[in-house]
This record gives sequence, C-alpha cells and structure tokens, in this order.
Amino acid sequence: MPLPKAELHLHIEGTLEPELAFRLAARNGVQLPYADTDALREAYRFEDLQSFLNLYYELMAVLRTERDFEDLADAYLARAAAQGVRHAEIFFDPQAHLARGVDMSTVVEGLWRALGGSEERHGVSTRLIMCFLRDESAESALATLDAAKPYLDRITGVGLDSAEVGHPPVKFRAVYEAAAALGLRRVAHAGEEGPPAYITEALDVLGVERVDHGLRCMEDPALVDRLVRERIPLTLCPLSNVRLRTVDTLADHPLPAMLDAGLLCTVNSDDPAYFGGYAGDNFDAVHRALGLTEDRLRELARNSFLAAFLEDDEELRQR
Ligand code: ADE
Ligand code: ZN
Repeated sequence: MPLPKAELHLHIEGTLEPELAFRLAARNGVQLPYADTDALREAYRFEDLQSFLNLYYELMAVLRTERDFEDLADAYLARAAAQGVRHAEIFFDPQAHLARGVDMSTVVEGLWRALGGSEERHGVSTRLIMCFLRDESAESALATLDAAKPYLDRITGVGLDSAEVGHPPVKFRAVYEAAAALGLRRVAHAGEEGPPAYITEALDVLGVERVDHGLRCMEDPALVDRLVRERIPLTLCPLSNVRLRTVDTLADHPLPAMLDAGLLCTVNSDDPAYFGGYAGDNFDAVHRALGLTEDRLRELARNSFLAAFLEDDEELRQR
C-alpha cells in the first residue's frame, strides 16, 4: 500500500504522456514533428528549465477540445491514485492555451469534467490553481485573471510559473493583489533556477502562502530561518530537479538538509510525464537515493496534507 499523500505541485500539461500525445494528435489532425513515441522520448534530454519548456509548450498543440483536457486530467488522476495520492492541487497554464486559440471555457470545463468526478472515480479530491506565465507581461496576467472570472467557483488559487530568471515576482504585484481581493489563494514558483531573493520577494510582495520549489533558499541562512519560523511550505520536486539539472544527481539533493533545518518540505512530481515519475515515484526515489527513513517519508506525507488548501475536517479525514 503506497503512503497516502497530497500532491501540491503538478502541472496538468506536464502529465501528457507520449502515447496520449500521439492519440490526441491523431484525433485532432495535428502533425507532431516526431516519428513515434520512442522518437519523442528521445527529446526528453533537458539542459535546463528553458529547454524543457520549449518541448512542454510545443506538445500542448495536441490539446484542443474539452474532451482532450478531460482525458489528460483523468489519466493523471488514475495514475496518481495508484501511487497513493488522495488529494491533488493541480496547476494549469491558461495563457499557453489562449495563445493557440483555445479559450478559457474549453480548458476549465474540460479539466472540470475529470476533476468533478474524481473523488468518486479515483478517491482523489482536487483543487485547481491557475498559473500566470512569468515570461509573459504583467498586463497579460491581468487579462488572464479577468478571463477566469466566470470560473472562479472552480479555481482555488493562482500561481506563477515558466522561465524564472529575469522575471522576478515583483513584476506580478498587481495581479496578485487583484487575485487576493477575489479571495484566491496564492503560491508561486521561486528559487528553482532563480536566486533566493525571488523567494523573499514572492513572500513579501505577492503574499504567497506556499513556495513552489524554493530549493535555492539553502543559499541564504536568514531566509531558511524565516521559512522555518513562519512555517512556509515548500513544494519540492526531486526528479524534476535532476532532469532540469538544478542538482547534479538525486544523491546530491538537499532534501535531507532541508528537513534537518526544520523546513516544511513536501515531495511532488512537477511534470511527471517528462521527468520520469509521479508522486509515489518521487517518494521511492528519495527513499532509495537519499536513504530517508520511513519516519522521514511519513513526515513528508503528513506535511503534504498540512500544506494543502484543505479545510480542517477534510485534512483530518485524508491522513
Ligand atoms: N512549468 C511547468 N513546469 C515548470 C517548472 N518546473 N518550472 C517553471 N515552470 C514550469
Ligand atoms: Zn513546477
């Protein structure tokens, strides 16, 4: 029986497995520039975050209809459930779809067709978190929030993702203020490739409650002290960090040092179709490579429910 856990850092577009990509391409008459799934898998050798993002955005071309988004999310939820995920807070990137002529309604309604029945079908409760692309403009982020207004009953929070370096959190002050005024929860990617100062800025300027990745906090002891004191959860993604070369090997991952420092760490999968594994695979990998004890693994699983946007009674029921 896999350890029950919550997944808090998962891009739904990053769950697009090669087989599904080809199936959707055929269904939608989209030509992919790869001969077959093996040739596509060959392209999964990344130098850094940007080289991954190039492929991630390219493959989104196959996602066109509500049914495509439903199939994508349903496939993820089935895999997650099999690995012990009981609750999933799911990122999506509307700007990447709006730019291709796929509207907000198609994306949200499509995802909701899978998420709405997930507790019954898979035993997984869900939340949706809408991310702004930080390499797009602040105005585009505001327009995206505006386009999401009819769907706010389905969207729990906002996040910030895509190319980090050169796009500091402060660029998105206005849209985070507007999101807070609408009652949305706030998270942001920070300190994945970007400096520790971006983590501080995400907390101080954007008011985030959780930091996605946050790995580079370890370069700033005063920031670590603050994250510990304020109990700010970090959503770490160990297999992602290896594939995107933020750490050399899994054995070098700072997770044990982060736990020893008292940080509220969680383990997640980020873009599991691209990085070699889902939530349970990430747990297994850190267990093996870092020698984490069963107690440490249980602590990580408990942290995932503590850090989730669940009501107190839901949280107790889940763990
Ligand atoms: N979008 C999808 N995966 C991402 C990651 N690991 N970092 C930033 N943006 C992303
Ligand atoms: Zn991410």
